[in-house]
Amino acid sequence: MNRTALITGASKRMGKSLAEHLASKGWNIIIHFNSSEKPAEELEIELRQKYPHQKFARVKTNLVKEDEVEKLIPIVISEFGPFHLLVNNASLFNPGYLKETDTKLFDSQMNVNLKAPFLLMRDFANQCKKGNIINFADTRITTNKSNFAAYSLSKKGLWELTKMAALEFSPEIRVNAIAPGVTLPPEDKDEEYLRNLAENIPMKKPGGLEPILKTLDFILENDHLTGQLLFADGGENLGQNA
Ligand SMILES: NC(=O)c1ccc[n+]([C@@H]2O[C@H](COP(=O)([O-])OP(=O)(O)OC[C@H]3O[C@@H](n4cnc5c(N)ncnc54)[C@H](OP(=O)(O)O)[C@@H]3O)[C@@H](O)[C@H]2O)c1
Repeated sequence: MNRTALITGASKRMGKSLAEHLASKGWNIIIHFNSSEKPAEELEIELRQKYPHQKFARVKTNLVKEDEVEKLIPIVISEFGPFHLLVNNASLFNPGYLKETDTKLFDSQMNVNLKAPFLLMRDFANQCKKGNIINFADTRITTNKSNFAAYSLSKKGLWELTKMAALEFSPEIRVNAIAPGVTLPPEDKDEEYLRNLAENIPMKKPGGLEPILKTLDFILENDHLTGQLLFADGGENLGQNA
């Protein structure tokens, strides 16, 4: 097998786990990062040592800047040729009710979480021509809670984009989305914060990374699945039963 995946925001947290998981299954991995240069380098070294017969690389791109975004797929293709999987995992997650959201906050969330995936999906479809795209949404898209207004809107848009692209790019490219719920605490919060949040979801505990990785496998292994959103959220999308 000689399959290659580009994972955005792959140096840490969920993206790193996706990279390690796919590498363990024989994939070559392009680790995209922006500010996390050192963790990206360390992950590349770790993967090279563990899987010496696979190819690994890292690429820095600021997904806020469209000129940089438009160079990303061509850079990957120049090194790896047309590749097989694009995972739009990178994200900005900043709070703000509608009344507090200035244009700077709005633009940053939209650029990283919606516009960059749009441009990358377009370029993947035009230049790689076949394979899989997996977008990371969020279980929040099922609510109208506005405490992360621009973030939530960007992820609602990403889900609409997933369906639109699934239809246009079929049958050569399958496009699906994963909606995590309470998975990892934000970097400035701890596990207890996460456990408290999870008390309000049907499964009553944080899911951790395992359900995300199983969902990823399910999408990749099911070659008739496209335009779907899989909730890996312990039932949070159902709302509260009281
Ligand atoms: N964590 C959760 O519980 C949870 C819940 C629901 C949904 N999700 C979704 O699942 C995905 C992964 O979650 P996560 O918590 O692991 O994400 P995260 O840590 O918040 O962000 C992942 C990466 O996004 C990259 N990124 C941010 N701004 C960027 C920019 N301007 N240019 C390029 N890259 C940029 C960062 O890369 P650098 O560090 O290199 O700058 C960061 O490491 C996200 O799409 C998120 O919305 C997560």
